[in-house]
Amino acid sequence: MKKTSLISIVAVAAASALMLSGCAAGTSTSTRACVILPDADSGTRWEPGDRPALEKALTEAGYEADIQNAQSDTSKFATIADQQLSKGCGVMILVDFQGAGAAVVEKAKAQGIPTIAYDRPIAGADYYVSFDNEVVGQMQGQMIVDGLAAAGKDIKTASIIYSSGDPADGNAAMFLKGALSVLDAAGAKAAFTMEGTWDGAKAGTLFEQAFTAVKGKVDAVLAPNDNNAASIIAILDKNGLTVPVSGQDASVAGLQNVLLGKQTATVYKPFTIEAKAASELAIALLKGEKPSANKSLEDGTPFIALDPISTTADKVKDVVAAGDAKVADLCTADVAAACEANGVK
Ligand code: BGC
Repeated sequence: MKKTSLISIVAVAAASALMLSGCAAGTSTSTRACVILPDADSGTRWEPGDRPALEKALTEAGYEADIQNAQSDTSKFATIADQQLSKGCGVMILVDFQGAGAAVVEKAKAQGIPTIAYDRPIAGADYYVSFDNEVVGQMQGQMIVDGLAAAGKDIKTASIIYSSGDPADGNAAMFLKGALSVLDAAGAKAAFTMEGTWDGAKAGTLFEQAFTAVKGKVDAVLAPNDNNAASIIAILDKNGLTVPVSGQDASVAGLQNVLLGKQTATVYKPFTIEAKAASELAIALLKGEKPSANKSLEDGTPFIALDPISTTADKVKDVVAAGDAKVADLCTADVAAACEANGVK
C-alpha cells in the first residue's frame, strides 16, 4: 500500500514538473515543429529534397517549422536539439545521425514532447515514418538480378561487389537485409564486401580497393544509394566498364546514370509523400491521438511505412512529371540523347 502511494506521489510530482517545464519552454510550444536533418552531403536529399518538402507540409499544417542541419556532427546534433528545446517544440521530427537522435528523444520525452523518427529509426521515438526500407533493399537486389540477366551473365558465377550504407544508420541494415534476401535466393555470392558508408568519396576509395582485390573482374555492384553509386560508376568508367549497379534516391546524378545505362535503376522515394506523412502524424499527435501504423520495427516502434518506387530509364519521366526532377537539370549535354530516347521532356 505504502509503496503504491509513494509511486503515485512521485508520478504526480513528475507530471507537474513536466507541465512546468512545458510552460517554461515558451509560449508557442505547440505550434513549433523542431526538425533536425543529419548532413548536407551524404545522399543529396536532405537539403534539396526533404527540407523544402517538410517546410511546405509543416507550414501548410499550421506549424512554424524550425529546420536545422547537424552537418555530419553528433555534438552539433545535440546542441541544436538543446537550443530548439529551450525555445520550445510542439513536436520533434528527427533524422538520426550516427545514433545522436536517441538522447534527443529522451530529452524531448522528459518534457512531454512527441518525437517522430523521420526516415531513419531512432530508439525510443514515438513513431517512425519512412519508406519500407526492406522493400527498398529488395528492389536493389532485383536490380542486380535483372541487370545481370540483361547482360547475359549467370548470377551464380558473377563477380559481384557488395556495398552498403553507414552501419550507424539503422536503415543501412534494413536495405542490406532486403537486398540479400533477393540476391541469396538467386544464388548470388559476394566476390568482395565493402565496409559500409554514406560518404560518397569514401565509397569511391573503398571501391577502388575492392576493384584491386578482385583484380578488376567486376560483373555487378550492389550500391546502397545514388551518391555512393556515382563514385563507384566514376571508377568503373575510368576502367572502361559498364556493369549493373543499384542505387536509391532518384537524385539528379542517379537519374542521369540510369538514363545513360550506367546504373540499372534507382529507388524513387518522393520526399513530398514522406514529409506529408510526418506532418499529418505530427498534427494527430498534437491532438493527443494515437494514429495507427501499418508496420512496426523489431523494438516495437510503430512504423508508418511508405511504398518506394523502383525506377528504370523508361520511368524517369514519371519522376519529372511528379515535379521531383527537372528536365533542365537532367538532360544536360551528354544525357540529352538518352532523355529524348526515354521520353524525358
Ligand atoms: C536514406 C537514404 C539516403 C541515405 C544517405 C538513408 O537513411 O534512407 O535515402 O540516401 O540515408 O543519406
